[in-house]
Amino acid sequence: MSVTRTPAKHFAPLAIGAPEPYRSLPVRIERMIHFIPPHNDKIRAKLKETIKQVDVVLGNLEDAIAVGEKEQARAGFISMANDFDFGQTGLWTRINCLNSPWMLDDVTEIVKHAGNKVDVIMLPKVEGPWDIHYLDQLLAQLEARHKVTRPILIHAILETAEGVKNVEAIAAASPRMHGMSLGPADLAASRGMKTTRVGGGHPDYGVLADPAKDGGPRAHYQQDLWHYTVGKMVDACLSYGLKPFYGPFGDFADGAACEAQFRNAFLQGCLGAWSLHPSQIEIAKRVFSPDPKEVAFAAKILEAMPDGTGAVMIDGKMQDDATWKQAKVIVDLARLVASKDPDRAAAYGF
Ligand code: GLV
Ligand code: MG
Repeated sequence: MSVTRTPAKHFAPLAIGAPEPYRSLPVRIERMIHFIPPHNDKIRAKLKETIKQVDVVLGNLEDAIAVGEKEQARAGFISMANDFDFGQTGLWTRINCLNSPWMLDDVTEIVKHAGNKVDVIMLPKVEGPWDIHYLDQLLAQLEARHKVTRPILIHAILETAEGVKNVEAIAAASPRMHGMSLGPADLAASRGMKTTRVGGGHPDYGVLADPAKDGGPRAHYQQDLWHYTVGKMVDACLSYGLKPFYGPFGDFADGAACEAQFRNAFLQGCLGAWSLHPSQIEIAKRVFSPDPKEVAFAAKILEAMPDGTGAVMIDGKMQDDATWKQAKVIVDLARLVASKDPDRAAAYGF
């Protein structure tokens, strides 16, 4: 039996003086979550420019930050949060996981010193709703204590077999949930998958075509290793009003493969991906902004069916109430992209 709070209590603050949870997520464009090591001086020196180029800046405190640098990374994130104006660009952090020696100080220090600047905390290695409940309660207490005026959201990384099994309960755990990202590296390890790659395909994961009559070579079609998990995550997220994201793509030299993987995720319903290298920022912009031709066609559908009902033919293709809704998803996304990206606004003709 699943035990959840009543609807009335679901939306009540978990501490006296904590801000009211959101009933629906703030509207933000988040095509790429750009990871930076927050204690690196070279990266900080370029941060003003980076903030203009990306939709979300994420100060990473977890994996890829050496054990000896965890405190410096945390302090670097707090000072960067206070020293820069992020404007419309989101400010996120990835804290260390719940069973690590750093997580409690990550949360308490960040909410104390930067609670009114941080939009989202990314929580790694989430296994079930209990992980979300713990951080939810802790954040409410800290928000109340430090007079934080808007709720800090939680974004879960889906990167353990148990997390994937419990993905729906994780999505439903709290109104503080922002969304989820696929974590293909940790997930591969947790599941015992036989790949050393960070996301993307694998040449051996595929389907062999039937033997040819002439005995010629048989085609082998590579398949997407992550299709099942991304689909499961998208359904869990969208059914609870959350946002699904593809995570990292580790082969920085293979932009084409990164683009193909991001595009699969976009077509399946994801709204963005992580950029771990500057070259991936443009890839994510290209993929997660709808194609101007698609936007023009979608706008035609909306125009031809002003009240969204009935059936019409456009360019030989049948349109009805369902395709009107598909068109609206694309036009709404294009308007959001245009609000942050003047070049694309022009391409869409807005
Ligand atoms: C990301 O954190 C991953 O494990 O892929
Ligand atoms: Mg991970």
